[in-house]
Amino acid sequence: MSNLRFSSRSYKAADKLRGQCIILPVAKSLDLDSAGKRVDQDSGGLVSRCLSSGDFKGGAGETLLLHSPGAVARILLVGTGDDATSRETLLKLCGALARKLLASKAADALLLATSLKGKAIDKDWLGARIARELLYHGYRYDHTKSKAATAPALKRFSVAAADAAEAKAFKAGMDRGADVGTGVNLARELANRPGNHCTPEDLAREARRLARGEDKVSCKVLNEKAMAELGMHSLLSVTAGTATPARLIIVEYKGGKRGDAPHVLVGKGITFDSGGISLKPGAKMDEMKFDMGGAASVLGTLRAVISMKLKLNVVGIIAAAENMPSGTATKPGDVVTSMAGITIEILNTDAEGRLVLCDALTYAGRYKPATVVDIATLTGACVVALGSHASGLFANDDDLAQQLLSAGTTAHDRAWRMPIWDDYQKQLDSNFADVANIGGPGAGAVTAACFLARFTKDYRWAHLDIAGSAWNSSPKGATGRPVGLLTQYLCDRVND
Ligand code: BES
Ligand code: MN
Ligand code: ZN
Repeated sequence: MSNLRFSSRSYKAADKLRGQCIILPVAKSLDLDSAGKRVDQDSGGLVSRCLSSGDFKGGAGETLLLHSPGAVARILLVGTGDDATSRETLLKLCGALARKLLASKAADALLLATSLKGKAIDKDWLGARIARELLYHGYRYDHTKSKAATAPALKRFSVAAADAAEAKAFKAGMDRGADVGTGVNLARELANRPGNHCTPEDLAREARRLARGEDKVSCKVLNEKAMAELGMHSLLSVTAGTATPARLIIVEYKGGKRGDAPHVLVGKGITFDSGGISLKPGAKMDEMKFDMGGAASVLGTLRAVISMKLKLNVVGIIAAAENMPSGTATKPGDVVTSMAGITIEILNTDAEGRLVLCDALTYAGRYKPATVVDIATLTGACVVALGSHASGLFANDDDLAQQLLSAGTTAHDRAWRMPIWDDYQKQLDSNFADVANIGGPGAGAVTAACFLARFTKDYRWAHLDIAGSAWNSSPKGATGRPVGLLTQYLCDRVND
């Protein structure tokens, strides 16, 4: 769907009504503004008949697609409820509009946004939301199907706004939303690919592809030998049981001033998590192909940042490995030394995410970063705590936590803060090493974050546990979260 083109103009009463689909917002009051009345006339009164019959009530997010005998082939009524200025209403409206429009065969559509001219509506935000929903619902997975999926018919989407300033705001928002949506869809695509089609080296290839032809982007990939030389024995303990080699993938984007400290994103890239010797139960084990969702979100965010040409330095680091049992696999009770020199007793080989992340986080320190955010499908406990609506947020810095929370709200990709108090640290005590890799039955998402906190003391750091938000189980598929949150967070940093 990246071939979808967005445009905007200011509405003129003299403009001819034509095209394949006109989208008309209608409030619960069912009053039509002058643009709405013209659409009604063009359709021979079809719109007003639908309203007076009660077939369309104008509820927030309600839709009705009409085939019109007029100059415009289709009219899509979208309800704005009784408060078209509320974000809740607009979120519902954009989602419903995108789904309905993409299900039709219309190749172009024009949104009459004149009836949304309430000053309280941020047109830039709304434009971004519309574009994101259109890209989201236009995505089709077909990488491992024998036949290519049919793409939606929609090729052009335009907005007729109340005036030139609003048209400009819509366009800026739609362009940004399309860049974010493309990043979200890249993250979904990579996460959806099965483990045998998305190995650590496959992720490295995708990272190199981001850098191709871009002079501000470079990519470096470390193999296991290079990681051993750096002392990354915690990360390497995870890959010990598999024949598929691990990779540490580093993408540098230099959109900011030379010497400006970068914002570093660190992604958990477990391309399949069987649990290792601490083998997982069989039910739904296939879903552990999504255990590289953090890595996918780092690549998706970089894709968006590169297209938006953000004036910021950003580094993506991906710890990519497969977690498998075998005769060479790491055993419960084994002790390894991390790159930071901290020794770790691996009591459970299924708590592998923190083992790969701790070394990647130590590596991140080399950049003298402005901030470091790691993203990981880290714990089942986070799913128990928050379900799928919010990602778990942990941070050693209150300002950073606040910035991420507010970015999540703006992008409607929300997070919720959880504690990493020192009180929890003693759950990680070990008789045989500096730290154990599991913290017992209580507060599993917190003790996982507390483990990471021991490796991130030198910089401002946050951790996003996306175990609940990165994919849906029915129907199965990656969500591309938290690319929306992360891109918004980085956009907000440009003028800091
Ligand atoms: N990748 C899993 C976390 C996970 C589980 C994500 C279920 C989504 C759904 C992670 O590597 C893991 O296995 N964590 C263990 C930690 C435990 C052994 C302390 C878990 O959550 O059970
Ligand atoms: Mn695991
Ligand atoms: Zn895992």
